[in-house]
Amino acid sequence: MKIIQFSDIHAGGPAEDWMGYFDKRWVGVFNYSFRRKFQHDLNKLHTAVDYILAEKPDLAVCTGDLTSTGQPGEFEKVKVILKRIVESDVPLFFVPGNHDFYVYRKRCVNAMKYMVKYLNQGKYDFDRLPVVLEHGGLDFVIINECWPSNLLSSHGWVKPAHSRQVENFCSGEKTRPRVLIGHYPLIEEHPIKRARHRLYGQKTLSQLLKEQRIDLSLCGHVHKPYAKLDEHGRGEICAGSVTRNSCMAKIEYEPNDNIFKYERIMLN
Ligand SMILES: [Fe+2]
Ligand SMILES: [Fe+2]
Repeated sequence: MKIIQFSDIHAGGPAEDWMGYFDKRWVGVFNYSFRRKFQHDLNKLHTAVDYILAEKPDLAVCTGDLTSTGQPGEFEKVKVILKRIVESDVPLFFVPGNHDFYVYRKRCVNAMKYMVKYLNQGKYDFDRLPVVLEHGGLDFVIINECWPSNLLSSHGWVKPAHSRQVENFCSGEKTRPRVLIGHYPLIEEHPIKRARHRLYGQKTLSQLLKEQRIDLSLCGHVHKPYAKLDEHGRGEICAGSVTRNSCMAKIEYEPNDNIFKYERIMLN
């Protein structure tokens, strides 16, 4: 079972409607125009798609932040590139990042929800998350941790009801290894320093990972890639930003030795 994970594309552009100058989008558009635009190269996503289609993994995973401010035009820029995966035989699981569910503006929320369903080819709806999907001998627990937050914060939070749902599932007998797909890291080594950027309400999920009732957490949000894994490949993998750091993660699960093998992919 081979998975290729990529994350944090951050396509951007100007405000797409007048409300964009009054809600949080002006912060995101400002950030994009003066910073992200020069850091994130959308061409890297083309290269990533070429790589994925040549490699033909059993699953591609995108852990969020397709956009900078979650506007329809930004999703469209990514959609035309990821379309090639959607139209291929490679299934794709996507969870939104904090930049994808950025404001409650209806047209933005609808674009995000549409993108979730489009990329996973109708396997799950945003409103039904968290869901558990069996694929290739693994159970994937797919959760949304992103909701619009205040102007200066990019934190996420796990709703108590969602946390309970995942806990209920994980308290059952484990018939297959479990892989959690979310946007935020569950292993947080600097909770105070990263107060504005971290995940809240995550205690139950972190505990499940620690007890290996969840075997592997796949996340994004942090743009530098890392893997915090034990000798059996249990732990957490952050793919890093594909458009900023040219990186993806390759994960291979070997059922015979029950090991997850991780490799960092660097695109040139
Ligand atoms: Fe990001
Ligand atoms: Fe993020």
